[in-house]
Amino acid sequence: MTKSSSVPADQLPPGSVTRAGTWAVGNRDGELFAVSRRCRHQLADLSEGTIDADGCLVCPWHQSRYDVTTGDMVSGPKGFLGYHGPTPGYTQFVRGYAKVLRLRVGRAVRVGAEIVVSRRPT
Ligand code: FES
Repeated sequence: MTKSSSVPADQLPPGSVTRAGTWAVGNRDGELFAVSRRCRHQLADLSEGTIDADGCLVCPWHQSRYDVTTGDMVSGPKGFLGYHGPTPGYTQFVRGYAKVLRLRVGRAVRVGAEIVVSRRPT
């Protein structure tokens, strides 16, 4: 049996991201996605992130950007801890290990008034 989480569909209008159990679930202009919630940089909660103009999920702490279809970090962090600014060498280092530690990508499907999120079949 596959464990799943859900969220009321009316809590996920286009352009929004929210939490469904261990997942950050989002709505990219009607296209639903789900990825694991912990940023690969410093574990910020990606369900509090945003969706940018390219459809990437942006971390709320240091703006790492993720491709929600693959879980890849496509842009690294802009800072660390309480610092927010350019960190070129460090940013590349984080992107390097994030290639190995991609976000898990789940499956988000609307079922009636709910968005149901589950692991993708392997
Ligand atoms: S915790 Fe996500 S970019 Fe730093």
